[in-house]
Amino acid sequence: MELKQQAIEVLRTNNRNGYTVPTATGLYPAQWNWDSCFTALGLAQFDPPRAVVELETLFDGQWLDGMVPQILFRGDDSSYFPNASVWQAGPTGRSSGITQPLVAATVVRRLFEHSPEPAIRQRLIALVPKLLAWHRWCYRARDPHGTGLVSIIHPWESGMDNSPVWDDALNAVEPGPSVAHLRKDTGFAAADQRPTAPEYDRYINLVIRFRDVGYRLDRLYDISPFRAADIGFNAILQRANQDLLFLLAVSSDAAGATEIAVMERATGDAILRCWHAEDGFFYSVDARSGAVIRKPGIGGLLPLFADAAIAARYPRLVQRLESWLNDVTFAVPSFDPRRLEFEPRRYWRGPVWLIANWMLIDGLRRNGRPDLAERIRCDSLALVERAGFAEYFDPLTGEPLGGSRFSWTAAMYLHLSADTE
Ligand code: GLC
Repeated sequence: MELKQQAIEVLRTNNRNGYTVPTATGLYPAQWNWDSCFTALGLAQFDPPRAVVELETLFDGQWLDGMVPQILFRGDDSSYFPNASVWQAGPTGRSSGITQPLVAATVVRRLFEHSPEPAIRQRLIALVPKLLAWHRWCYRARDPHGTGLVSIIHPWESGMDNSPVWDDALNAVEPGPSVAHLRKDTGFAAADQRPTAPEYDRYINLVIRFRDVGYRLDRLYDISPFRAADIGFNAILQRANQDLLFLLAVSSDAAGATEIAVMERATGDAILRCWHAEDGFFYSVDARSGAVIRKPGIGGLLPLFADAAIAARYPRLVQRLESWLNDVTFAVPSFDPRRLEFEPRRYWRGPVWLIANWMLIDGLRRNGRPDLAERIRCDSLALVERAGFAEYFDPLTGEPLGGSRFSWTAAMYLHLSADTE
């Protein structure tokens, strides 16, 4: 069967009545926030109305305060830890109590611009007030002092769970009781491709602390022992701010646009302040101590996705990306391959993730580097052609890693094979 057809089959198998599970193996038996957004880009290639449903279902899970949770539990979640009975979060008790990168506005805009059909456009525009509420929540809950940079309170919110960028801040969190015996993920994917036991103990201890204060918007930021102004999360938010401004203009919501424009300016300036002139890279900041986290993760390249003037203003950033690529066979490793912390097979400590590649491809094109974008696009397709729709890939060997028949990898394959502009 042709590979595109196989990608469609993966998305069909992972379809659960209105939302798509990241993989049907049992590793992630629920709806994940940014997975659904990226998956919608792939669904749009063969079934645009279904792509809109994916987003509508995600926003059905939005909390009253505006947050759109990282996980929405909808079916049998017994193969996952921590499942709904551990989180006990949200109005219906069927979600996690934290969020994930706000990529949705970017996807909604993209679908809008590529869907001539009025009925689809109308449904996408109906999501705009919900997007606005989520962005508003993000600034209120995660930047209460108005710095322009929002903070994540759990590594899972970054979507790049065990990136070395979080090592020190996570180590400072009490581990709490060991949860090694409760973990289910290592039953589905090799343990050396997953986060470690000490990391998991801390992930869960954070969840318990948040649960103890009832996930209250006005408490979480202050009580969290983990607080990081993640450069990747902020860059994605900033891009989404711009795309939301476009959507607000289409919706004729002038008041909403004024509000987001203020946030967009503040975050744009704040991202530039994360540039580390000596190292020639964008870094995250530990928002509790104020210390710069001098660890070059792929999030530090994402300002390219947020701002079309980055390559011209900081040519060293693109040179850095090029030097990373010289050290691997397949673009783009999720962490600097020359650093000691680089592990080519372990989750976000080195492997290639196609969703990150897509953001860089898009950003490099906007930054006047279509050549480099094309190289990353070709590598992304080649990985799938060699190794299938794996969750992530070894940048040195191209080996498939983590879960198999993954929705966002199939979606990115469909999207990137059509997207040659
Ligand atoms: C892992 C990834 C995260 C993703 C989730 C579901 O937690 O780190 O980015 O959303 O799995 O695929």
